[in-house]
Amino acid sequence: MKRFFTLLMPVLASGFLTSCQVPSSVSRDAGPVLNDSSMTASIRIPVGLKAPTWDSLKPKSDIPGWDRKIDHTYFSIQTSQKVIAITFDDGPHGVNTPRLLDMLKKRDIKATFYVVGNMVKNSYGPGLLRRMVAEGHEIGNHTVTHGTLSKMSEDGLRKELREAHNMIAEVTGVEPRSMRPPGGAIKNEQKKLMLKEFGYPTILWSVDPEDWKRPGASVVTSRLLNGAAPGGILLVHDLHAPTVDAMPATLDGLLAKGYKFVTVTELINMDESGSE
Ligand code: NI
Repeated sequence: MKRFFTLLMPVLASGFLTSCQVPSSVSRDAGPVLNDSSMTASIRIPVGLKAPTWDSLKPKSDIPGWDRKIDHTYFSIQTSQKVIAITFDDGPHGVNTPRLLDMLKKRDIKATFYVVGNMVKNSYGPGLLRRMVAEGHEIGNHTVTHGTLSKMSEDGLRKELREAHNMIAEVTGVEPRSMRPPGGAIKNEQKKLMLKEFGYPTILWSVDPEDWKRPGASVVTSRLLNGAAPGGILLVHDLHAPTVDAMPATLDGLLAKGYKFVTVTELINMDESGSE
């Protein structure tokens, strides 16, 4: 679609054609594009007016909280930019999470935390969540009990997510925008329900260093650095001390490779798939 638009615009601007006339050769080449009403409308621009940006032609979303169409699941996104999202699951932890937050702050890196409701209930939980938000991080929903969602009924799933959602919103004043299923265990129909009822895309990952098996900090770092790619989502756990130990070398290594860290919501909004 983008190629066709680029091809046609100079022809229209040159004044050889009025807005509705399209040479038959172009019509044949372009095929079904001409049946796209948004495309046809965009071509009828009086000369001298600014053309719409491609962003404004992206399909709009009917999902609350999202201004463009989103998918129900993300492992990564398609992007021409060297961006990456790092996600920390299963916290907050009273010792490891503050240590991690210091490391992120020192490097001006924004991350996403998929927190567990029962961890937020700890005495240090609310304060740590507020610190995350104050320092520009994003908080996502990782359920209340860290149970296996794929084994739950629809109402069980709703209860897990609603309670964690409300807890995060009450503590921080910011509503979570996405969820990660514990262990990645989730059914397709559950993903659709969560997107429809909560506005949550299901966030999985493109790199899993299996840090929870405690392979050692240097192994975690090398797995993350080797697996990183533009648009990727890195999965680690701030619950574990060795994971946090691996972070200085990991973060510095990714910065040295030229990566810019974004939160999961920012990453999704940068997805370029579907724009051509
Ligand atoms: Ni988890």
